[in-house]
Amino acid sequence: MSITIHTDVPLKNYVTMRLGGRARFMADLHSPSEIHEIVQRAKEQQLPVFVLGGGSNTLVHDDGYQGLVLRNRIPGFEVIGETASDVTIKVGAGESWDDVVRRTVEMRLSGIEALSAIPGTAGAAPVQNIGAYGQEVAETLISLEAYDEQTSQIVTLSNADCLFSYRNSMFRSSALGRYIITSITLRLFKAAPAPPFYKAVQEYLDERSTTLYTPEVIRQAVMAIRADKLPDPKERPNTGSFFKNAIVEDWQLNDLKKDYPDIPAYDMPDQLYKIPTGWLIEQTGLKGQLLHGMRVHDKNALVLINESATSYEDLATARTEIIGAVRDKFRIQISQEPLEM
Ligand code: EPU
Repeated sequence: MSITIHTDVPLKNYVTMRLGGRARFMADLHSPSEIHEIVQRAKEQQLPVFVLGGGSNTLVHDDGYQGLVLRNRIPGFEVIGETASDVTIKVGAGESWDDVVRRTVEMRLSGIEALSAIPGTAGAAPVQNIGAYGQEVAETLISLEAYDEQTSQIVTLSNADCLFSYRNSMFRSSALGRYIITSITLRLFKAAPAPPFYKAVQEYLDERSTTLYTPEVIRQAVMAIRADKLPDPKERPNTGSFFKNAIVEDWQLNDLKKDYPDIPAYDMPDQLYKIPTGWLIEQTGLKGQLLHGMRVHDKNALVLINESATSYEDLATARTEIIGAVRDKFRIQISQEPLEM
């Protein structure tokens, strides 16, 4: 099957922030076997290649992308191993992440149920090491397969190879642009989810006096909490958390506590602390404000909604103002979460 290549495609229709210019070329990938030929053709014409999943964590500049955008639609959902305690599944990178969660929850498997209702594709999940309500995909991902543009081979990368950390992996840092992920392999558990659960989840369960913890119960709780706190990108364009939470060293936290005794902070490994950037932005007074068409979400200041912005430039101006306000007040440099095409 030969691939159809479209030209001059408005990228704003393919990213959930609904901003940005056009792609010079765009094509859908349906199988790993298609990758080699199309990547070689792009190389011959000296065109850069960008792989797009669901577009829920990607921003597009106003001048668009002067290269080839490949939309990853590679399907697949297969059980490839089972023991008394766990089940290993291999999933095509183009599958909807939440469909994968739903299917594993229906199989009564635990491990990714707290990652329910996250927009985007399975192949994008490891790129930013998606995490929510106490789980991270790095905790269940065994390995993945990817086309390596450097060696022109499909390779298997182990969990350790991916260099996972909070909201990060080598796919968006040291190996940016090198791999096209074709499938991910997850090991999920037959045992039921066990407390302690993330605070908001526990509160939701307590309010309903729920003490029977199944993957389905946790999925329903997470979906309800998210529906309340996070705007639906289909109705209000956004990319989820627009900023990462801030990671600070102990001396910084102690310093901040002198001025802000109530500052929330969560322990991380290596004597680092995570400070919710939503809290930092809220303290600057920007929560709920409209900046250049971008709304700082009134239920979580970490989220920016494109209410009436007309360009990436509008978004960039709003971003500069928010980053500046946090820096001026707290001397903390916050960083953006979505990747830029
Ligand atoms: N907070 C505020 N004001 C705000 C927002 C948050 O004070 O406007 C404080 C509160 O103290 C709250 C704490 O921040 O207790 C944590 O808030 P929440 O549980 O809503 O989570 P978050 O830190 O804002 C992170 C992830 C989300 C994920 C939730 C739940 C990042 C960048 N974001 O947000 O992920 O759903 O935890 O686990 O780590 C995403 O990445 O797109 C995303 C939605």
